[in-house]
Amino acid sequence: MHCGIDFGTSNTTMAVRGVNGPVLVPLENGAVTIPTALFYTVGNREILFGRAAVKAYLDGQEGRFMRSLKRVLGTSLMEGSVLVNGARTNFDVIIGRFLSHIRHRAEEHCGNSLTDVTIGRPVHFQDGNPEADARAENQLRAIAEKSGFKNIRFQYEPIAAALAHEKNVAGEKLALVIDIGGGTSDFSVIRLSRDYQPGRDRAGDILANTGVRIGGNDCDKAINLDTAMPLLGMGSAYGDKNLAMPLLLYHELSEWSKVNWTYTPQNINMVRSLAREAHAPDKIQLLENVLEEQLGHKILDVSENLKITLAGQENAAADFSFLAPQLQRAMTQAEMGTLLGAILFPVRTMMLETLHLAGVAAKDIAIIVLTGGSTGLPVFRHWVAEYFPHATVLQEDRLGSVGLGMVL
Ligand SMILES: Nc1ncnc2c1ncn2[C@@H]1O[C@H](COP(=O)(O)OP(=O)(O)OP(=O)(O)O)[C@@H](O)[C@H]1O
Ligand SMILES: [Mg+2]
Repeated sequence: MHCGIDFGTSNTTMAVRGVNGPVLVPLENGAVTIPTALFYTVGNREILFGRAAVKAYLDGQEGRFMRSLKRVLGTSLMEGSVLVNGARTNFDVIIGRFLSHIRHRAEEHCGNSLTDVTIGRPVHFQDGNPEADARAENQLRAIAEKSGFKNIRFQYEPIAAALAHEKNVAGEKLALVIDIGGGTSDFSVIRLSRDYQPGRDRAGDILANTGVRIGGNDCDKAINLDTAMPLLGMGSAYGDKNLAMPLLLYHELSEWSKVNWTYTPQNINMVRSLAREAHAPDKIQLLENVLEEQLGHKILDVSENLKITLAGQENAAADFSFLAPQLQRAMTQAEMGTLLGAILFPVRTMMLETLHLAGVAAKDIAIIVLTGGSTGLPVFRHWVAEYFPHATVLQEDRLGSVGLGMVL
């Protein structure tokens, strides 16, 4: 039986073709999305996946939490290994565990073996580096093979999202897909019609296909650097010469895929010695606690939740009271808009470049397909209103449409 996988930076889905068309398969307690996350319990005796992994970590269970694994594909980190509870483990093994897990879940549900697969890929895993891009796809293919998949094909994520929405398009229309996920922002200009014959070769319908490695993870990073990291001494000084606290550690603590690298004895020793000369020693003490107690993901989780809350309301506060009593940071939606406007500037440029590459003007776009969790941010509604005021916006199933399109 043929299946499709949207292996996302933040969330993963799997789809199969049911009698009435594509359907998503429940992957975790009836839910069709599963966070792309693993938790290795101490001694690596057990591996938890998805929400169970997130919960174990947030509950403070001892072990190693892994998230945003897709971001590692194509990078030099794939060649190295990571210490997971004292045991050296390679990323391909970790990603493979996740893919095997969801395959087994889906097979249990469908009662069929699922080896024939179409896997989604962003237009670019890495920006401006075609070799790294090809490497990332090859790595993912090799991991999928080791996880038990046989006939492996790839589909661009935004194209899959477009195909999933095509049944709603009467007549022939030009669509722009805006897929803003956790790790990447992808755009496609594609001709859609529900009247096209099944099996039609779509190559000629795809007018442009672009992407940039910026997504919700980068928004979390910006918010984390603005709210949480100053509480841990970022921007404060140390020593007689008023030197600024080194930034690298704060940046690594703000990046989902790098947090695990910060908890090293070297970093802890560095922070201890800086604390002795620090002008804000209480904050540096908090930083030391964060490293010792491995709280980086928990802080980032608060920042991500602040972002999601502010996507829907004017004001919110990030609660860091697990670091120190009553520690909070308030933010307004407008402040977040300014912060993220800068991060997302290249994304807007890429969206406009996609139209240029397709040889069309904004007014030629009749349909906007909005997909990916990050399109919940108000900034994307504003862009659509500004550039495509007359287009019809299709945005149902923001977390599922890419997966569904994999089996179309
Ligand atoms: N309501 C919301 N408003 C803004 N952002 C949101 C909302 N809900 C989820 N997100 C963000 O959406 C992102 C996840 O989206 P999604 O599941 O589409 O990504 P993904 O497919 O895993 O990633 P990618 O496609 O880049 O590999 C996360 O960064 C999350 O914080
Ligand atoms: Mg996605």
